[in-house]
Amino acid sequence: MVSIFCLFAFLAVAGVTLSQPDAGADRCPTLPDKLILSKLTDPFTFFNKRPVRTKADWACRRAELAELIQRFQVGYLPSKPPTSVAGELLENGVFNVTVTEGEKSITYPVQIRLPAEAEDDGPFPAIISLAGLNIPTPPGVAVISVNNDLIASQVGGISRGTGLFYDLYGKDHSAGALIAWTWGVGRLIDALEKVPSAKINTKRLAVTGCSRNGKGAMVIGAFEPRIRLTIPQESGAGGAACWRISDDLKTRGNNTQTASQIVQENVWLGPAFNSYTGQVGVLPFDQHLLTALIAPRAVLVEDNGGIDWLGPESVYGCQRAARTVWRALGVADHIGLSQPPGHNHCQLPEVSKPYVNAFIDRFLKDKEDVNTTVFYTGGDFKYDEKDWVDWDVPRLR
Ligand SMILES: *[C@@H]1O[C@H](CO)[C@@H](O)[C@H](O)[C@H]1NC(C)=O
Ligand SMILES: *[C@@H]1O[C@H](CO)[C@@H](O)[C@H](O)[C@H]1NC(C)=O
Ligand SMILES: *[C@@H]1O[C@H](CO)[C@@H](O)[C@H](O)[C@H]1NC(C)=O
Repeated sequence: MVSIFCLFAFLAVAGVTLSQPDAGADRCPTLPDKLILSKLTDPFTFFNKRPVRTKADWACRRAELAELIQRFQVGYLPSKPPTSVAGELLENGVFNVTVTEGEKSITYPVQIRLPAEAEDDGPFPAIISLAGLNIPTPPGVAVISVNNDLIASQVGGISRGTGLFYDLYGKDHSAGALIAWTWGVGRLIDALEKVPSAKINTKRLAVTGCSRNGKGAMVIGAFEPRIRLTIPQESGAGGAACWRISDDLKTRGNNTQTASQIVQENVWLGPAFNSYTGQVGVLPFDQHLLTALIAPRAVLVEDNGGIDWLGPESVYGCQRAARTVWRALGVADHIGLSQPPGHNHCQLPEVSKPYVNAFIDRFLKDKEDVNTTVFYTGGDFKYDEKDWVDWDVPRLR
């Protein structure tokens, strides 16, 4: 400030007149038609600007992103394991999970459905589904239904701090519902590991859910490394859509769910996120990097190209950006997208079924020679990757 003031004072004293630059001159840059104020965050540059060059670097970058996403958006998973976790297999496939933390204890039931016809006596691969299954039950695979609302309620704003998670950790805990559910599924897996009579192969687990529970499936896959396959279905904002692209869609008149809307609607995210919903461009990540926490494990993003509220263009762009991480790791066919239009919300269309089967065959049943290369949209939009992505994809050694 001082030096600029001195310069002007000097010029004034010296009697020099400052001429206007010639606005028409070629040397002046022109603004593009479409102004993107903040592109998606580069996965391959650490917060401190150091480049990510190796697979070991990616492990560090992943840890950094997991910290940033918890701090600014979803809230924290409890840092240490609870005092104890136990599972009990009851009648008709009911499995009670009991978690004790200090003096306090909670119990929640889940429903285990073993495959009707099986070649052996298990243990079986399993799909953990939040609030009902919206994909066909694959043969030979168990289904574990979790009532995630018991862990953290999601009725609306009034649900903040309600549910078994908060009974254990306190109403003011930083965790929003999505990360509380992640904790609940984590303790379920702990309990299944301890009870072989439940016949679940905990090394072959998938997680799925649709819509709000699809947001949950994405966060669970991102933060629980024992999940081998994540299938978030029609999850939209807070799930597979990027905040920045959704805000842009909204600016262009599309009726799309955005960060400012979502925090009014429900308690899925942590309270810390409220400070950023009007300025998502300052966040040191976007949702492509939430998806990327899953890498190199598998994810199939099941989507709907025909519902504006879900932001199909945002989901498509966001997951393409996420895929650059799997490409860098040399496993691009561990991430898939299927986004056909023309079906009801949470109804898996015929076109998507073979992709779901392929991912399940390969990642839950260890079948070889299964083609999981799919990145399909039938959405009615023109997405230009240059608008949002300005990084090169390294080959991580
Ligand atoms: C299983 O959990 C449910 C719900 O908390 C509870 O009502 C029931 O008593 C539990 N069953 C056993 C045998 O502990
Ligand atoms: C919103 O975007 C979809 C394509 O994703 C397009 O078909 C629709 O016309 C858009 N709506 C508005 C109001 O711009
Ligand atoms: C795998 O399937 C995709 C379509 O989803 C196709 O484009 C590709 O050619 C297939 N790859 C092989 C090796 O068959």
